[in-house]
Amino acid sequence: MENLKIDGARLWDSLMEMAQIGATEKGGVNRLALTDLDRDSRDLFRRWCEAAGCTVSFDAIGNMFARRPGRNNNLPPVMTGSHLDSQPTGGKFDGAYGVLAGLEVVRALNDADFETEAPVEIVVWTNEEGSRFAPSMIGSGTYVGEFELDAALAITDGDGLTLGGELERIGYNGEGCGNRPSTAYFEAHIEQGPILEDEEKTIGVVSGAQGQRWYEITLTGRESHAGPTPMAVRRDALVGAAAIVTAVNQIGHEFQPGACATVGMIESSPNSRNVIPGQTFLTVDFRHPSDDQLARMNEALHAAAETAAAANKLELDFKQIWNCPATVFDAECVHAVRKGAEIGGYPHMDIVSGAGHDAVYMARVAPTGMIFVPCEDGISHNEIENATPEDIAAGCQVLLHAMLDRAGGK
Ligand code: GLV
Ligand code: MN
Ligand code: MN
Repeated sequence: MENLKIDGARLWDSLMEMAQIGATEKGGVNRLALTDLDRDSRDLFRRWCEAAGCTVSFDAIGNMFARRPGRNNNLPPVMTGSHLDSQPTGGKFDGAYGVLAGLEVVRALNDADFETEAPVEIVVWTNEEGSRFAPSMIGSGTYVGEFELDAALAITDGDGLTLGGELERIGYNGEGCGNRPSTAYFEAHIEQGPILEDEEKTIGVVSGAQGQRWYEITLTGRESHAGPTPMAVRRDALVGAAAIVTAVNQIGHEFQPGACATVGMIESSPNSRNVIPGQTFLTVDFRHPSDDQLARMNEALHAAAETAAAANKLELDFKQIWNCPATVFDAECVHAVRKGAEIGGYPHMDIVSGAGHDAVYMARVAPTGMIFVPCEDGISHNEIENATPEDIAAGCQVLLHAMLDRAGGK
């Protein structure tokens, strides 16, 4: 079993072929959830899985499952996967790596004629990024019961299109949704930060993930003429928003070590150069490994938003739209990943995930672990995101060992 090898070149070629779907000029990928391009990537994944002898199905939120039978199909499967949707200026590896590493594990098992005891399943989770439809991880969150199916299907994008309507449009609306028993879930991913590269380690043995909270804030003032309106009587929504942006950054610095605080999106209306902005919408993304600290950051944000609104005579609509607590992965799965790194002889270290992943929700219903590999300069959510073929192959080899550890067979 320890001699089984994945084919790194085949995995790399598949990643590069998948990256053609939605390829951007700067070498990245724009494949937002439930667009035609997302459908094309799902179609390609499906063709590849069927060619590898898997049975492919999908559920009512569009999560896809490709199953390779085991010797005992009454056993719950060992699952692996990630996502194929991307950020608007995303990279080639975020998500697609975990999906195609799973496919490479299946292909390697086929090459070796290896029958696992438990079945193996590769999953593509719907809308992991949370960019087109907020929040993140809606497919896995619905699968584990964190989101109600009907509510998830009713979520709208910036153009008012619903997730359910778009799912139907691309033909990936299946039947039923809910977690089935699984023996274990593993997810391979690029680290998306600089730690592994700085520490010169090939494998991150992921022990858990930090918590996150997302907010939507709308400030309403009064539109008026930029020339005749004296400074003293203005109700400028963008000035209030600017104070919140500054406060968010300060909170991030204040809650060190560990905090991350970002305003990623801001929309100001009417967005005309000689009109004082009447309404501004902004989003806040808070992260921290400690849920207590995250709760304190929440209080600080609330206070800062109220102060900014009062100082500028604005109405405040403050919504926390998502709270995903910090997660600790299953000790045995974490151990299986560490053992896989040792079998492969790869330098490794334990690490906590800074990013959100579908594994965070899966950890609620199945023993779960994750494998990280370094990405160049720690840069991700960027078209220049990059990783080496050697590290990509190493992470997949560790995935194979970890999955076999849980699935058994010969
Ligand atoms: C997912 O990409 C995240 O925001 O962590
Ligand atoms: Mn990802
Ligand atoms: Mn991402």
